[in-house]
Amino acid sequence: MVDVILGLQWGDEGKGKIVDYFAPGYEMIARFQGGPNAGHTLYVEGKKIVLHQIPSGIFRENKINLIGSGVVLDAVILKKECESVASFGIDFKKSLYISERTHLILPSHRAIDRASESAKGREKIGSTLKGISPAYMDKTGRNGLRVGDILDNDFISKYHKLRNKHQQILDNFSFVEDISEAENDFFEAIEFLKTLKIINGEYFINDAISKGKKILAEGAQGSMLDVDFGTFPFVTSSNTITAGVCSGLGISPQKIKEVIGITKAYCTRVGSGPFPTELNDSMGELIRKNGNEFGSTTGRPRRCGWIDLVALHFACMINGVTQLVMTKADVLDEIDILKVCNKYKINGKETEEVPFQMDGKNIEPEYKEFKGWEKDITKIKNYKDIPVEMSDYIDYINSTLGIPIKYISNGTATDQIIMAS
Ligand code: GDP
Ligand code: IMO
Ligand code: MG
Repeated sequence: MVDVILGLQWGDEGKGKIVDYFAPGYEMIARFQGGPNAGHTLYVEGKKIVLHQIPSGIFRENKINLIGSGVVLDAVILKKECESVASFGIDFKKSLYISERTHLILPSHRAIDRASESAKGREKIGSTLKGISPAYMDKTGRNGLRVGDILDNDFISKYHKLRNKHQQILDNFSFVEDISEAENDFFEAIEFLKTLKIINGEYFINDAISKGKKILAEGAQGSMLDVDFGTFPFVTSSNTITAGVCSGLGISPQKIKEVIGITKAYCTRVGSGPFPTELNDSMGELIRKNGNEFGSTTGRPRRCGWIDLVALHFACMINGVTQLVMTKADVLDEIDILKVCNKYKINGKETEEVPFQMDGKNIEPEYKEFKGWEKDITKIKNYKDIPVEMSDYIDYINSTLGIPIKYISNGTATDQIIMAS
């Protein structure tokens, strides 16, 4: 069977840490979508590492880590990631597998991303500029190159054919950039990629399922960044939700068991787009400082706000979440009054639904207030030891969403986690 861990907000919920925590209970950890726009932070022997494309099970012994077909892969970034993983003594050549169907990000995809964003001016998406959207456009436009293609003799000529198409797009943007050095790095990284385990991913994973192996699918980004159901157009270009597990790994929905949704105890967003509970004040600053809310991939400051149960309820619904993990509860330790958004007011009308279009609407969040716990919770190991104010906060979220918070993360270390009940 396959369990899923995914983010329910706008990304950076702490998926890396939580996947690393759960990984010992599985035999395979598989990324199903996204690419190097993701930045998943783990602490290994007290040392921080940020993974972008390699699944977060890579530090656990005897695990298979699969980069699935639904991912868009940057070989240059992968090579660097592999080198940094190897510096921890990990034999990635043994444990890392890549599906042949995974699409490649070319240097010219990154250039198009930059050209497109700069042409949008003030309306830019706030992309990580990793070439994600142009690579997925080439996939749905049926032009893209896939990992399996690198083993063919005509790969270089296929590359140049696509590169020439990209040049026309760049010319249309009047975007001039010399990418020859990036192309050299790309071909060097392609040679490196050839040395890894490139496999027919769908047979590989379904064979593992039929042998009764336990598989954990690792999401990237968050549900509110889903291309279909997020705050469009301020989204990423893949299906970040449970449905993306099936299309990204080639498995049947019947194989999916637990859907573990992660939410922060508050909310953040990086990049542009609507964020109803955003705090543009000293409280937002405090959360950013205490939560160290700066992008793992780009270093940009993250926008911070209160937890939004309207958006979370929507995310739980479209994902079929069966249990919740709440991360970064410790970040709220100092705050005396906590707020939880349980309704929106749009044009004077109350609603508990996420509207079709959030952008350009005046969405006023309505809040229920809670007394903060104002205690250091980072050393707590047992649920019975959490402050009563914290259990009130958690009980309210549980009952409003109708899904239990099963784990509470109270620090960056993998073992800083409290199992509820
Ligand atoms: P991901 O993209 O969902 O994997 O999340 P990121 O790694 O981008 O961002 C989460 C950040 O929060 C990282 O810096 C983590 O080390 C950190 N983090 C995760 N869980 C906790 C927690 O419970 N408490 C605190 N203080 N930090 C956490
Ligand atoms: P993880 O997996 C947070 C955001 C970008 C931008 C929008 C589109 O670490 O949670 P893209 O590069 O996909 O064209 O950017 O999506 N974004 C993320 N925000 N966490 C991420 O990944 C993100 N990946 C993309 O900031 O607003
Ligand atoms: Mg991240």
